[in-house]
Amino acid sequence: PLIDRLFNASQTEIELAQKLGIDRAIIVPGDMDRQERVVDLMGEQLNSALDLLLPLGKSIITVLGGTTVAGVARHLSPKLSRYRDLLFVPGRGAVGESVEIQSNTVAQMMASETGGRHKGLYLPENVSSEALTLLLQDTDIANAISNIYNSDMVIHGIGRADVMSKRRGLDVMTNSKLRNDGAVAECFGYFFDRQGRLVKRIPRIGLQLEDLDKIPHVFAIAAGASKAAAIVAYMHHAPKQTWLITDEGASNLVLKGK
Ligand code: G3H
Repeated sequence: PLIDRLFNASQTEIELAQKLGIDRAIIVPGDMDRQERVVDLMGEQLNSALDLLLPLGKSIITVLGGTTVAGVARHLSPKLSRYRDLLFVPGRGAVGESVEIQSNTVAQMMASETGGRHKGLYLPENVSSEALTLLLQDTDIANAISNIYNSDMVIHGIGRADVMSKRRGLDVMTNSKLRNDGAVAECFGYFFDRQGRLVKRIPRIGLQLEDLDKIPHVFAIAAGASKAAAIVAYMHHAPKQTWLITDEGASNLVLKGK
């Protein structure tokens, strides 16, 4: 396909994308579980891919949180903003994760690296529906939410279920239920088992998995052998226009079907 020729996709990248049912996979050398520099290589790949795909003019880019997406952010370059007006918005309000890897922070970092703009979304995730209705009447919050739905691109990570249930502060009972139900992946508040079956959903404000279909460009950034099962599980639900940026550690296992 044209997309592969345009980007000099390797045979392995083509196989991986086919296996996962997505448009494009980019594989960098190494294994992020053992080599920190892998995230830098992925950041450089993301920067080139954005330069290739983002149209000139105005674009809204929705950014999710996590260590991987935070790690690639510093590799985005000011060149991306030449002839472009980039607005980075967080895909959700703060969750119980540390500030450095919250989507608000990552969106702000990407804006500052590229010389683009940023709009914050400061919402607690666990509020009563009455409180939420009131919050959504606030103009700033309503605008931030509408930016998310009108975005041209989403950049997100894929989490391991065990890591994410701890990070989201789920209680011991829920944790062991997730384990018993075979959850391996978490993405957009959904926990999936190996076959991609939904195990649990945490209701949350902001971007939902169903919204991804309407977004022209979607980047999933996840790497390391320990993420292989999570990647496979989530990809049952990824929209076809997804580009996965990963490493050999994860892709070798995915291709072997482990
Ligand atoms: O929901 C996905 C997680 O945000 C991924 O986080 O990159 O720290 O594994 P991570």
